[in-house]
Amino acid sequence: MCGIVAYVGNKNVAPLLIEGLKRLEYRGYDSAGMAVVTPQGIKLVRSVGRVSVLEAHAASDAALQGTLGIAHTRWATHGVPSEANAHPHLGQSRSGHTIAVVHNGIIENYAALKTWLTERGHQFYSQTDTEVLAKLVAEFYEGPPAARDAAAGGGVANGHGGLEQAVQAALREVTGAYAIAVVSNAEPHTLVCARKGSPLIVGIGENSYIVASDASAIIAHTTQVFTLDDYQVAKLCAGPDDTVNGTRGPWSVAFRTTTIDNVPVSREVSALEFDLQQIELGKFKHYMLKEIMEQPEAIRNCLRGRIDKREARVVLGGLNQFARDLVRAKRFILTGQGTAFHAGRIAEYLFEDLAKVPARAEYASEFRYRNPIIEDGSIVVAISQSGETADTLAALREAKERGALALGVVNAVGSTIARDTDAGVYLHVGPEIGVASTKAFVGQVTVLTLMALFIGKRKYLSDEVVRSYLAELERMPDHLERVLTQSEAIGQIVSNYVRRQNWLFLGRGYNFPVALEGALKLKEISYIHAEGMPAAEMKHGPIALIDKGMPVVFIATQGSQYEKVISNIEEVRARGGAVIAVATEGDARIRKYAEAVIEVPAVPEPLQPALTVLPLQLVAYHAAVQRGLDVDKPRNLAKSVTVE
Ligand code: G6P
Repeated sequence: MCGIVAYVGNKNVAPLLIEGLKRLEYRGYDSAGMAVVTPQGIKLVRSVGRVSVLEAHAASDAALQGTLGIAHTRWATHGVPSEANAHPHLGQSRSGHTIAVVHNGIIENYAALKTWLTERGHQFYSQTDTEVLAKLVAEFYEGPPAARDAAAGGGVANGHGGLEQAVQAALREVTGAYAIAVVSNAEPHTLVCARKGSPLIVGIGENSYIVASDASAIIAHTTQVFTLDDYQVAKLCAGPDDTVNGTRGPWSVAFRTTTIDNVPVSREVSALEFDLQQIELGKFKHYMLKEIMEQPEAIRNCLRGRIDKREARVVLGGLNQFARDLVRAKRFILTGQGTAFHAGRIAEYLFEDLAKVPARAEYASEFRYRNPIIEDGSIVVAISQSGETADTLAALREAKERGALALGVVNAVGSTIARDTDAGVYLHVGPEIGVASTKAFVGQVTVLTLMALFIGKRKYLSDEVVRSYLAELERMPDHLERVLTQSEAIGQIVSNYVRRQNWLFLGRGYNFPVALEGALKLKEISYIHAEGMPAAEMKHGPIALIDKGMPVVFIATQGSQYEKVISNIEEVRARGGAVIAVATEGDARIRKYAEAVIEVPAVPEPLQPALTVLPLQLVAYHAAVQRGLDVDKPRNLAKSVTVE
């Protein structure tokens, strides 16, 4: 996820773009940049890190003066966070003009386009898909629209040609998702934007237009907005005298909207009702729910480009140079805190089962101070959403000092943990804002599954087995969607138990750590006391807690331990406990044992945790809402804990 903001008007654009980027920073913050059209040509500033770093650079650049500009805050997908990969990207047209582009989305056919453009003499300076767009627009750019179009009534805004035409032509060649804003040094009063798939809003200000990924960056300037539908282009002009729409006046503005095939379309201007949170949240009441519901898309992004079914291969570019170490590793230590630690516990099963290598999950805070033994062949994997958790960072540094190879499974690109590891795999699930981690957990489990297959394939797993897992992984986003359709029904179930102050979460095998995570989610946001444990462990003590009506959530999916779980369910029922079961779709038998059943699609056991955790996230969410609590800001908790 990235954020874009662009402006054409009569004000100095750089400070205005910085202010917009700050509002969009939640959409990504590994690097940022802006391009301003100045009388001396397009001036570019880009920097790695937060928008504040860019702000400092921009402030010290006296040449950054103009009234037309585009800006971007990045969350890396193609290419590491670096100045060269930060947007805007530039293209040079044959007519000698410069084009600058900011982009949010993914250009799927970028490799083929890059080859074509390279053959035509364009040089590439970044690893991004976006640079292809800049070159492509430049390739089609023939210079500004003829002056006669402007003069012959209607002016530049109504005359066709120039940048608008070049953008349309470029987008006709592109597959993928985009929200873009484009400028040319030859058209100092024209901003062209377009979208397909990614969000984009156009604000109509006084003497200006402002374009952004969401309304938060627009609201300070205007409440009059219009949106574009997929495959639509807006040409926005604001300039002095009659260059814009043929009328005389000190400053004129005009816009036109078309499809990428240059068919004019009309857009309805509407008034923005200001509620920043609501805008960012879309139709959702809380970030946590939004992020739960985003999981199918998040996992699609996480898997993108990493599955090669034909070759039965997992593609994890970051790990390639360490493939030999991974195969020869004698032991994996998976370390993290909170939800990330639970992902590590699932990886114990994944690594031993699929990669046939001993694996232990360790609380980073304990591992760090235990004087840990790091033998030759130990690999430490630091798991973290934020990449900034102090305990995890300390454990990572300790392990490195003792000679371990250090890998990262991190969401926040360019974060401290990501930078401190020898190599790693990013989750690519987008920024997580809700304090209770949801989509990051499913992303972590997915990446750890890919890592286990990456190693397993190089050791014992046949192509056939790897291929069948990869096919199942590809189906996961659809399975996740199916589970999420039950959100309301889960809310109903929860309402029967929400007043109970003690809950148990039980599972076996792969689903034991899921029980831990289910209990943590409930504790974190609903302040209900909950414990998670192996279903079999319950009878060795905690069974004493069970009284009439105590909610006990079982993860009771079909698998090698199904019958054993049923026996554990019987033990709870015999003491009057209320059983809520997460079960495999179509399991009629479980209904005899459980008061309530939540179904998940059937998948092989190693892939179950990413599915079975979803109902538990929803249980916690609905419990907190029904108790009237602040879901996104639970008491005493912080999203990122940067103290040990
Ligand atoms: C905090 C959060 C948890 C999170 C843990 C690890 O305690 O409240 O939700 O799981 O940190 O965070 P990380 O960013 O390292 O995954």
